[in-house]
Amino acid sequence: MNICVVGAGYVGLTTAAVLADIGHIVYCTDRDTARISSLKEGIVPIYEPGLTEMIAKNQAEERLFFAANVKRHMMNCPVVVVAVGTPSAKNGSADMKYILSVVQDLSLVIRSPKTIIIKSTVPPGTADRIDALLQEYGVSQALYELVSNPEFLREGSAIEDTVHPDRIVIGAANEEAALIVKDLYQAIETRFLLTQRIEAELIKYASNAFLATKISFINEISRICEAYHADITEVAQGIGMDNRIGPKFLQAGLGYGGSCFPKDVNALNYAASTKQVKMELLQAVKKINRSQLGVYLNKLNHKLGEKRENIRIAVWGATFKENTDDTRYSQAIAFMKLLTKQGYQVYAYDPLVSPPIPSVVWCSDKYEAVKEADALVIATGWPEFMEADFHRVKLLMKRNLLLDGRNCLDKKTMEAHGFECFGVGRP
Ligand code: UDX
Repeated sequence: MNICVVGAGYVGLTTAAVLADIGHIVYCTDRDTARISSLKEGIVPIYEPGLTEMIAKNQAEERLFFAANVKRHMMNCPVVVVAVGTPSAKNGSADMKYILSVVQDLSLVIRSPKTIIIKSTVPPGTADRIDALLQEYGVSQALYELVSNPEFLREGSAIEDTVHPDRIVIGAANEEAALIVKDLYQAIETRFLLTQRIEAELIKYASNAFLATKISFINEISRICEAYHADITEVAQGIGMDNRIGPKFLQAGLGYGGSCFPKDVNALNYAASTKQVKMELLQAVKKINRSQLGVYLNKLNHKLGEKRENIRIAVWGATFKENTDDTRYSQAIAFMKLLTKQGYQVYAYDPLVSPPIPSVVWCSDKYEAVKEADALVIATGWPEFMEADFHRVKLLMKRNLLLDGRNCLDKKTMEAHGFECFGVGRP
């Protein structure tokens, strides 16, 4: 099948690479000509394990092509996958400008029957809205099928999640359209759920909202664990052994970030408000996430004392989680900003990024960052932090305070190295 993927971001690139890898001919398009030129030369603009290799292989085998002429490929391919971004607008709603512009382009090129697959995360009712728009632009409904097929991939394991998904959700107005899309994924062994479009749109938002809820829930339980001198990791393990709950997404930490959870929780909230539905649980989820950094800032303040001048804090990790170079809505960066605002000197290190943040000094090495530091904060759970030589770290630091903000270190081992180690919800 010839497929045009519109949008060469995380979702677009991964989808294009995997669809090509399972045998389709894929034209991955983007208006950003510089991005497309780099991709043609094999330079992948994002860090995602395995993606560069999969792209190179399918380019070499002539199944994957990159092109800046979006409309031309939209016109020529019977299947168009829309994977453009829907960032947060100021009021929390999903900003639909990229989707609307794709719809406008589509309206100019639909001449033969097409299946349009919406993979971007969009508010409930979007497929109906696009239908209405296309008809307004004069496109006959007989010429296209519009299907909602949300994406559930995580950054850092995008390829694995796309090749071995837990499920593929296909929301279509009729079975025939659903089956065209199901056929595309024939090579992927998974469970398929066929729904109407509105349910598919809601499944995506509700999934992300539920996962964010799990994280805020465990972070809230971590607070009571601290108060009772209990260990959240053991409590989480015990909770997770109940099949009805499951062990995943119960890792207490400095809170969730990234390009999806904060944005999608806000957008779902906004979508609800337009129908006069109050999302009280989601409001609490957001509130807990926002306050999580403050809780740990207060603890650091308390342990470091009143004086801020010449107090140096090393922060390891800047990305919103490990194995990605994405810093969008990163709690690690938000924490650095809070620390500098308090008057601390911040020396930061991340294996992949060093975004400019006023008053933060970036170090090219994790050991350099801890030199003369009064405290070390682990803000992202990169594997290389767990494997660090903590004997060396302790010798380099001025004082021995260690905040394990991702509960990724063994507390007893750290204490044996001479650290005063405190994690999230650990006695
Ligand atoms: C998420 C969803 O998992 C994915 O299905 C969707 O398509 C996009 O949004 P992603 O944002 O890539 O994926 O990252 P994810 O692994 O879900 O982590 C999100 C945030 O939650 C990170 O900041 C992570 O550190 C945090 N997190 C995750 C926790 O604090 N505790 C956990 O137990 C799990």
